[in-house]
Amino acid sequence: MSEAKLIQIPKILDERGNLSFIEKGNEIDFDFKRAYWIYDVPGGEIRGGHAFREQKELIVALSGCFDVVLHNGKKECCYSLNRSFIGLYVPGMYWRSMRNFSTNAVAMVLASTFYDQSDYIRDFETYLELKNKDA
Ligand code: TYD
Repeated sequence: MSEAKLIQIPKILDERGNLSFIEKGNEIDFDFKRAYWIYDVPGGEIRGGHAFREQKELIVALSGCFDVVLHNGKKECCYSLNRSFIGLYVPGMYWRSMRNFSTNAVAMVLASTFYDQSDYIRDFETYLELKNKDA
């Protein structure tokens, strides 16, 4: 999967409360090595603001809502996440930031790599150069 896209996550409806799950090979096609989550984001704060060279990820709003703004080197697209059964798949080499967090928002990220600072591109101009060189 080379394009960013929204992915439907299975949802088991139950009177006792709903349940969702993600399995490699079904909802996502990459091995995930790490999960992290972002929460207690003060109003107006922006997270992200970088690209990953290699890391692929699936972002899920486990609670509340927030926007993920993606740039693919040519154009920008905004995804509003507010359901715990919808994931946003983000391949490597997409510039991304996360903003407009609601007070109760929890952003869970399943990542294809272990944490590696050298995988980050934190300068947008550098990102554009690298991205357009690859294109
Ligand atoms: P960072 O990825 O820079 O946050 P953002 O997505 O908002 O740009 O991570 C913030 C800090 O957390 C940074 O000091 C590195 C650390 N961190 C880890 O130690 N392990 C992780 O898996 C992640 C995602 C971040």
